[in-house]
Amino acid sequence: MEGAMRILPIILAAGQGTRMRSSLPKVLHPIAGKPMLEHVVEACCQLNNEKIVIIYGHGGEQVQEAITYPIVDWVLQKEQKGTGHAVVQAFDMIKDDDCVVIAYGDVPLIKAHTLQQLVTALDEATDLVVLTTILANPTNYGRILRDVNGKVLGNVEEKDADDQQCLINEVNTGFMAARGKALKSWLQQLDPNNAQNEYYLTDCIAMAASTGSVNAVVCTDINEVQGVNDRIQQAQLERVYQQEQAFNLMRSGASLADPSRIDVRGELTVGQDVKIDVNAVFTGKVTLGDRVSIAAGCVISDSDIADDAIIKPHSVIESAVVGKHCQVGPFARLRPEAVLCDYAKVGNYVEVKKSTIGLHSKVSHLSYIGDTVMGDHVNIGAGTITCNYDGKNKHQTVIGDDVFVGSSTQLVAPVVVKKGATIGAGSTIRKEAPADKLTLTRNKQITINGWERPIKKS
Ligand code: UD1
Ligand code: CA
Repeated sequence: MEGAMRILPIILAAGQGTRMRSSLPKVLHPIAGKPMLEHVVEACCQLNNEKIVIIYGHGGEQVQEAITYPIVDWVLQKEQKGTGHAVVQAFDMIKDDDCVVIAYGDVPLIKAHTLQQLVTALDEATDLVVLTTILANPTNYGRILRDVNGKVLGNVEEKDADDQQCLINEVNTGFMAARGKALKSWLQQLDPNNAQNEYYLTDCIAMAASTGSVNAVVCTDINEVQGVNDRIQQAQLERVYQQEQAFNLMRSGASLADPSRIDVRGELTVGQDVKIDVNAVFTGKVTLGDRVSIAAGCVISDSDIADDAIIKPHSVIESAVVGKHCQVGPFARLRPEAVLCDYAKVGNYVEVKKSTIGLHSKVSHLSYIGDTVMGDHVNIGAGTITCNYDGKNKHQTVIGDDVFVGSSTQLVAPVVVKKGATIGAGSTIRKEAPADKLTLTRNKQITINGWERPIKKS
């Protein structure tokens, strides 16, 4: 019985990355908060394949710990003797019928769609498909050699190239697709007789050409095939990636004050007519409903913000839920498990943690609300603090509907303020405050006659 062609991506990720000058292995350096290697793994995952082989070397354990995809089989390349030598390490995993796809852990922006083009071009009559691109300045790259009819003949590395060959500006991107059986026979024929004494994977191109079966796909987006060798190239690709995210957001109905001043390090989903001002940063999974407005300098992670909510400048929101028509900020901090029901308002210098703020309830100024369940239509005065921590344990504050808490109140948890209660300003509430009554604590106000301000000693 003949099985369907298996797609086997092999990602080369053994290089050291000296120019990053880092204790972190190069392939773990992030683009949009995610290791470069993970971007490549995710592109490869979309090829309808059952596994991915990663050739690793430098920083081995660290790399394996960071990339925890069950689909990955790890293969160690102890010494780095060239790209051909790297693929040889996976020799035993390659089946004759496989369509092997070669990718690189330090070329993070490759698209699944482009890899799929290589797979598709590996037809019955072809044993190898190379991905090339045209560069105005091809320095350092392998040059693609073609005959007068445009048929691919091979690749020459720059260090082995003559002056004439150096003028060629069609370069090898390194990405390729190859038939398993043919690839294995070429790998066995590689030798390191070249300027760098390496086993060049690229020598397979000439071997395939000699049996007449090489195809080339020309990649028109050079960012997809751009490798990262230093932090400058990393930052450049970060900008490329961010611009793409920004354009996708605008296509989905968000207006961005400046598409070059937004960073999305995760997955941001937006409704229609969303507005995002400059320097907003989104991490993890964030959703914004219709007509949500995000002002300048907000940092939002793993949160859901519902329709018509307004987030004012410099608010920091983490693992929170913000209801419809809520107003947050400026300078508000919503910490994990903060839940704002619809029409709630959290104003400036207010911190909310693990608390529910009820419908239409307001905490407008300078307050800390932690471990609190708050009802609807509550008004919390400026400077109110829930004293939720006794030094060892956290305790809950429960505030009923229609409560009014005067400014600068401390609610010492565990404590309950019943429905409709009013708390006088400046109170320290340690016991249950009954419903519909005024409760307050007071120190008598006194005035000291004859008191004088201290005088500065000379
Ligand atoms: C390679 C290609 C060159 C192409 C260029 C595109 C070869 C011989 N040359 O050159 O034609 O234009 O990429 O960027 O393939 N690696 C290993 N183990 C090794 C050697 C390399 O895992 O033993 C990995 C590196 O970590 C890196 C990638 O393979 O991610 C490319 O290796 P590198 O040495 O940078 O090849 P180039 O000289 O750039
Ligand atoms: Ca390189």
